[in-house]
Amino acid sequence: MSKALITGASRGIGKAIKELFEQKGIEVFAPTRQEMDLKSNESIEKYINTISGVDILVNCAGINDLASIEEMTLEKFQEMLQVNLVSQTMLIKHVTPYMKAQKYGRIVNFASIWCDFSKERRIMYSIAKAGVKGLTTAAAVELSKYNILCNAIAPGFINTEMTSQNNTPQQIKTLADALPIKRMGEPAEIAEFVYFLTSEKNSFMTGQTVFVDGGFSCV
Ligand SMILES: NC(=O)c1ccc[n+]([C@@H]2O[C@H](COP(=O)([O-])OP(=O)(O)OC[C@H]3O[C@@H](n4cnc5c(N)ncnc54)[C@H](OP(=O)(O)O)[C@@H]3O)[C@@H](O)[C@H]2O)c1
Repeated sequence: MSKALITGASRGIGKAIKELFEQKGIEVFAPTRQEMDLKSNESIEKYINTISGVDILVNCAGINDLASIEEMTLEKFQEMLQVNLVSQTMLIKHVTPYMKAQKYGRIVNFASIWCDFSKERRIMYSIAKAGVKGLTTAAAVELSKYNILCNAIAPGFINTEMTSQNNTPQQIKTLADALPIKRMGEPAEIAEFVYFLTSEKNSFMTGQTVFVDGGFSCV
């Protein structure tokens, strides 16, 4: 039986991934924020030491606090980098010794459409998610020879609290209407692709940041 560590599984996309993995018979470790707070590298290390090795890591947790260049503070910027980028990197560092030893591992990181595009007041988020893209490329280069494949998903507008917190219902309707697919995505649709990327069926794809965005990046 495969074992997976999924961050951010209390709600949204992470929760949908957890539910799908469990349906598929994967043993899931899904720490709550109380068990592993991604703001703290100490908390990450402490939690990792309580679990045995995993074959799959899904770095799904993320935060998107909005601020313009003028509004942002160094403290908030560091927190955005820590939760969205540093924690993903440290988790890869912690889980890969076991994956290397067994010559198998599958890692999926969460970027965003805002890694290549941006919007006002997304500067901290765009910087962090562009970093996730770099992390994914670099990890793939180092780890592929151990059959550890590392990819990232860059979702578009997905129907979760993160989207409803940062956009009014009217803005969400306008955003959805502007997409070629004419609707937002659902967490379960992202979960299906994560399942493929983390399965043995994915045997050759690594280092990619894939836009799953209903055509957002095409227009
Ligand atoms: N929704 C979208 O449209 C969209 C688009 C592009 C990219 N993404 C990316 O996709 C991923 C999932 O997004 P989502 O929409 O599902 O987010 P969400 O509904 O806001 O859920 C965020 C998850 O991250 C966890 N989290 C946040 N800060 C944490 C911390 N310090 N320690 C531990 N866990 C923490 C939350 O835990 P708590 O419940 O404890 O807060 C929650 O489980 C994120 O990386 C996001 O940036 C989302």
